[in-house]
Amino acid sequence: MEYSQYDQNELVKMLDEERKAFKQLQKRDISVDMTRGRPESSQLDVSMPMLENAGGYNYVIDGVDTRNYGGLQGIKPARELFASIMGCKDDEVIVADGSSLDLMYTVVQFAMQFGVLGSTPWNKLKKVKFICLTPGYDRHFSICERLGIEMIAVRMRGDGPDMNIIESLVRDDDSVKGIWCVPKYSNPSGITFSDKVVERLATMKTAASDFRIFWDNAYVVHDLYDKGDKLKNIFDVARKAGTLDRIYAFTSTSKITFAGSGLAVFASSVDNVNAITNELFYKTIGPNKINQVMHVNFLKDLSNVKAIMKRHAEILRPKFELFNEKMTAVFEGDRYVTWSRPRGGYFVSLDVKTCAKRVVELSAEAGVKFTPAGSSFPYHIDDLDENIRIAPSVPTLEEMDYAVDVLISAIKQARMELVLRKIYHYDARA
Ligand SMILES: Cc1ncc(COP(=O)(O)O)c(C=O)c1O
Repeated sequence: MEYSQYDQNELVKMLDEERKAFKQLQKRDISVDMTRGRPESSQLDVSMPMLENAGGYNYVIDGVDTRNYGGLQGIKPARELFASIMGCKDDEVIVADGSSLDLMYTVVQFAMQFGVLGSTPWNKLKKVKFICLTPGYDRHFSICERLGIEMIAVRMRGDGPDMNIIESLVRDDDSVKGIWCVPKYSNPSGITFSDKVVERLATMKTAASDFRIFWDNAYVVHDLYDKGDKLKNIFDVARKAGTLDRIYAFTSTSKITFAGSGLAVFASSVDNVNAITNELFYKTIGPNKINQVMHVNFLKDLSNVKAIMKRHAEILRPKFELFNEKMTAVFEGDRYVTWSRPRGGYFVSLDVKTCAKRVVELSAEAGVKFTPAGSSFPYHIDDLDENIRIAPSVPTLEEMDYAVDVLISAIKQARMELVLRKIYHYDARA
């Protein structure tokens, strides 16, 4: 829709009509909180048998009673299971508690305080910088902000980051110590890194010998369709190139079993795994191994995990598709409104040129809450004020139907206001 083809009077009238329709819409009196990518209750129900059978599991593993203290790296069957999910070896895995975000924060904090594999602690250096791909996961950026790490924003492309830019950033500057990556079904863009990008990341020359790739593979098995995206195994590439120490990989079962009450996983070289374990020693006497026993009994193996993820996909897919269908019906081919069509993960990334903040604000007036505009960028700065993260998992289908109607109207209103302001210097909000 080219609103600029209308004169001021026509536009004011159209905006007025849209506002009336928006008021009418609000009579449905629905509230939807889509600020975070939470699984909905029916997804959590999928894993209830794990709890229901908990009394019957064998908690003695290899002669060790897992109900007691100990086992810093996690129980062997859990390490085996996650090695198969992550594509690495059992002894390259630590299985820890609850949340991968917790683990990521901890690992960055260890690096800041103690360095990595004998390097100078990062907080003793004048400057520490991380490359942050945009739009990206807000919580990665919050970790950097909290720990005083300077963020360098680099735009995502259709196949991952622009590797020419990344390579030139890390080649000469040894204060660049890390890069955050969500390599499969990225949060929020839904992009999966191409083979070439994975290869270049694992093999590029870095000025810092203690450079780390924070490989947050949160959506490793989270396909929406039978034919999901294929991510090249970074462990294979790095092993061959002799750069395994560079890989700090993470995942969790937050969106497989229970969000925040599952298992979190760190995977890297054996040296890194041992170094992190040595630091964990000061923090804990061991993880919640009871939960690990429950998880390995319920999840069993990779093929069963995939079967469980299919059940999640059946719940999630209609919501992603409803979003796409409704948006396509109104905005197909519109150069000012574009969105991702991911084949997995938890998010849709919506771009509405220079009016994202206003769209989020208007939607909130109708009870539909999105993550604040700008959240997917370091320091919350989205130069183009365009990106909005949509979390389709949260609403029911009925709520989703309402949320997209609200969103569509909010986009139309915001754009009409924008054109009136920019072209006619008329403030329709006054
Ligand atoms: C990319 C990414 N990493 C990590 C997390 C958080 O995972 P956890 O619940 O394991 O802390 C999320 C949650 O949305 C995410 O999108």
